[in-house]
Amino acid sequence: MNVTVIFGSDSGVTKAVAATIAKKTGARLLDVQEARTADYEGCDLLILGSPTYGMGELQTDWDLHLSQLEGADLSARKVALFGTGDQMTYPDSFVDAMGILYDKVVSQGAEVVGFTDTVGYDFTGSTALRGGRFVGLALDEDTQSHLTSARIDDWLGQLR
Ligand SMILES: Cc1cc2nc3c(=O)[nH]c(=O)nc-3n(C[C@H](O)[C@H](O)[C@H](O)COP(=O)(O)O)c2cc1C
Repeated sequence: MNVTVIFGSDSGVTKAVAATIAKKTGARLLDVQEARTADYEGCDLLILGSPTYGMGELQTDWDLHLSQLEGADLSARKVALFGTGDQMTYPDSFVDAMGILYDKVVSQGAEVVGFTDTVGYDFTGSTALRGGRFVGLALDEDTQSHLTSARIDDWLGQLR
């Protein structure tokens, strides 16, 4: 399967997670700053990742380069999402950026795969929930880094 991973990252956490996911799936890895519309279209599975900043917002590079994603024809394309966040410091907006990306790609016709349960997390609010589940893989390297590796492996198993 032809997989592309596109990420944005301020301080490197999401970049490292994206690199791990790309290595485990044999995916092409791209920083959102370099990704062009064709990169979002030319794969069987598109994996997008963003940290949340500013109380529930997308990472800056995602915001700056969103038009490249918005220009893509995602109809009937499979998209999986992952988000990094900090549930202890930002319990009301935990991994919200994943919810923003979800709404975006769904409005462009994508089929989002890889929803996950909230069991094991401790937060009060997130716009990344649909029907009580995360719309993708939620990771917290700030307060639950010991769980990250297993969470990634479980999620990739689910995607396969
Ligand atoms: C100013 C600031 C605001 C943040 N806001 C949120 C937030 O609203 N929700 C959340 O889950 N995490 C929030 N975080 C935590 C980051 O998303 C988290 O540390 C992430 O792993 C950073 O990823 P990066 O190293 O790829 O930039 C915030 C962090 C900072 C420094």
